[in-house]
Amino acid sequence: MSRAFKYVILGGGVAAGYAALEFVRRRGDATAGELCIISEEAVAPYERPALSKGYLLPEGGARLPAFHTCAGASDQLLTEDWYKEHGIELMLGTKVVSADVRRKTLLTSSGEVISYTTLIVATGAQVLKLEEFGGSGSDAENVCYLRNIVDADKLVRVMRSCPGGNAIVIGGGYIGMECAAALVANKIKVTIVFPGKHCMGRLFTPKLAEFYENYYTSKGVTFIKGTAVSSLEISSGKVTTAILRDGRCLPADMVVVGIGARANTALFEGQLAMDKGGIRVNGQMQASDASVYAVGDVATFPVKLFGGEARRFEHVDCARRAARHAVAAALEPSGATGDIDYLPFFYSRVFALSWRFYGDNAGEAVHFGDLGFSAASSSPKFGAFWVNKGRVAGAFLEGGSPEEYEAIAHAVRRGKAVPDVAQLAREGVAFVLRE
Ligand code: FDA
Ligand code: NAD
Repeated sequence: MSRAFKYVILGGGVAAGYAALEFVRRRGDATAGELCIISEEAVAPYERPALSKGYLLPEGGARLPAFHTCAGASDQLLTEDWYKEHGIELMLGTKVVSADVRRKTLLTSSGEVISYTTLIVATGAQVLKLEEFGGSGSDAENVCYLRNIVDADKLVRVMRSCPGGNAIVIGGGYIGMECAAALVANKIKVTIVFPGKHCMGRLFTPKLAEFYENYYTSKGVTFIKGTAVSSLEISSGKVTTAILRDGRCLPADMVVVGIGARANTALFEGQLAMDKGGIRVNGQMQASDASVYAVGDVATFPVKLFGGEARRFEHVDCARRAARHAVAAALEPSGATGDIDYLPFFYSRVFALSWRFYGDNAGEAVHFGDLGFSAASSSPKFGAFWVNKGRVAGAFLEGGSPEEYEAIAHAVRRGKAVPDVAQLAREGVAFVLRE
């Protein structure tokens, strides 16, 4: 069987949902019958960040349909009915197994051939498995990864099966830190193990990391740094012990693995130009074949703010904005849309803490505020600016107000000059609030 659509979005995650809304906003009823979304997942696009936060709450957790896209941007909630009402073909539970860019066709797992005039690739990323690093045990009943709602359901089930038990969290990045906080909220004892010197190694400075590690420690979390889990002992299908490289044995009722992600580019290897682990696109999010656009985790695009340097981001704000931009560009192929001008923005929320980061963590890190953790302080406020060639290149702020976040974003966006680093450290956010 084969079907043809003018526009096909491959992938049904964050970027797909935001792209669909943008299509409808720009094309209105004309979208009907033109657009098809193909997703391996069984549910309509949803806000993935909810999976490591609200979804894992011990009581009253977030559940679909409440966090379908585009709830995360306080925009319309796109349930399956919404796609139907707008004549958008939502092919759920359907994996694309091969793509032919020259012929403009996709082959699905059910043997259907879908042809397109314009394709938007939004296949996101997949978790790295322990096996890729020489480990084993991923299939055990109580080993959890977290990428999609099926994973999140398993994590909830496993957490609930071992109240008061021991969890080993492998990896001290976003998944490790956010899941550790959720496990604590579920009254599970947590040990985080990772090879780096401090948590969130890709973003945090050692000083920033120290605050969060002390905060987690005050909640009962144990950090084991500078080593790795070398093997997992399994009995009756379940992990019972994690054995560390240094020989230590940790009892485990469950394991959560968050050791990074890889962009889902495999369908297009050898057919589209690749860069930095993603599909290389131009400022219109258009790939090396002009009928293909790529957005979200899978796209490596030029960042004007960084002098046009190509970057790939694995964060939700990027997926949303790139998706909207690609749709605008695809509907106006004359180039009238202009090139994307993206200000990188990442955030996280754990326990009662909440931080935002804008820009690039390149250059000298200048810390401000009270970075010393105190159990007595209920609303810590501190951060760091990265100063590169005398200008603000990046900014991190914990506990800011909306105005303060806006001010640091603005300072990064316009590369505010920093004549005196000591003054920046002394004044912190006040330095950028005073315009
Ligand atoms: P996304 O992964 O959302 O969607 C990809 C879709 O493509 C999936 O539906 C997948 O099944 C489908 N697909 C892939 N291959 C396919 C194939 N061959 N055939 C059919 N379908 C296919 N970011 C942030 O800034 N703040 C945060 O708090 C968080 N929190 C967070 C929590 C968790 C648990 C995760 C996993 C990730 C985050 N992120 C985040 C990152 C953020 O969610 C991520 O950057 C976006 O989801 C990327 O959106 P995409 O649409 O590119 O991929
Ligand atoms: P990550 O890259 O943030 O962290 C990986 C961690 O695993 C690091 O601490 C690293 O030192 C460690 N590690 C690497 N190899 C290891 C090994 N062999 N053994 C033990 N530890 C190892 O990746 P992640 O936390 O898995 O996140 C996956 C994806 O989800 C990323 O795309 C991330 O951006 C996204 N995500 C983002 C957010 C957010 O933005 N708030 C939240 C959750 C997930």
